[in-house]
Amino acid sequence: MHCASSFFSVAPDRISARDEARFFGLLKTANNTFKRTEPSRLTAIDAALIETLARYDSPIHAVLDLGISSGVTTLELLERLRATGHEVQMTGTDRSVRARLVPLPFGCQALVEPNGHVLQYEVMGRAVRPWARRLDRWTGMHLVRKLVEGQLRKPAIAQAVAGQGTEVALISPRLRENHAFQWLEDDITRRSAALIGRFDLVRAANLLNRHYFEPEVLRRAVGNAIAYMSGPGAWLLVVRTHGAADHRGTLFQMQENGMLAIMDRYGSGSEVEDLVMELSSG
Ligand SMILES: C[S@@+](CC[C@H](N)C(=O)[O-])C[C@H]1O[C@@H](n2cnc3c(N)ncnc32)[C@H](O)[C@@H]1O
Repeated sequence: MHCASSFFSVAPDRISARDEARFFGLLKTANNTFKRTEPSRLTAIDAALIETLARYDSPIHAVLDLGISSGVTTLELLERLRATGHEVQMTGTDRSVRARLVPLPFGCQALVEPNGHVLQYEVMGRAVRPWARRLDRWTGMHLVRKLVEGQLRKPAIAQAVAGQGTEVALISPRLRENHAFQWLEDDITRRSAALIGRFDLVRAANLLNRHYFEPEVLRRAVGNAIAYMSGPGAWLLVVRTHGAADHRGTLFQMQENGMLAIMDRYGSGSEVEDLVMELSSG
């Protein structure tokens, strides 16, 4: 199940959360980040959110989760909301979702991002990482990778850039197949007309961080997240997780005058709380 070809061809109900974590944990993107999202990472925040929604008797129908990565925490929130009576439809966005699974000489394959960055080679049914681990020197993997890269890198990039092979979405298959979910490739720093004013709950988890974006870009991104809220009564949750479970976030709700009010804080609150308040006041 480590190989892209089997991961994307097996029925989603035969793939466990553990299989997903293993598969996505091997994919290092062009930005040098892993596609993997820790399962249960946001459980405590999900629970606090749901309790607040219940307290304010606020049913949620449309949710936008921004920067979903492989969508593991998105699926968890979706299931949690549905289990507590919210008939939600969830839209999940990320700057990069698509990749291509391309056929290569000698029966090999590769999983490649549209920009030509190789995520994984597949040689004789085995996954070969294009990135190095310290251990590789001892296992001989560095030699295998050298050989594979020498033979397959160029055709893999050429095929992907030419749009050959099969397009796949780098999202949890269990989430992708969920009838209440749709994904969208979208950059939060660019205003997307199709998302404006549509969502009762917008969540930005581990995305709107000061270290990710330049101040002006972050300002635009926060402004866009607010613009995607459906109106008075809608919620915005911004949270960043430090370490394993040190959540620092803020839950906002839009008031009748269109301004946001702080309804809850997790840990010391979101690092962009002031910016959200400033932008929502016009
Ligand atoms: C650390 S992951 C967060 C995953 C998930 N929200 C969580 O908290 O478990 C950050 C994600 O944001 C995405 N991202 C980074 N910049 C983005 C942008 N400008 N627009 C949309 N997504 C972006 C990355 O591709 C990555 O998948």
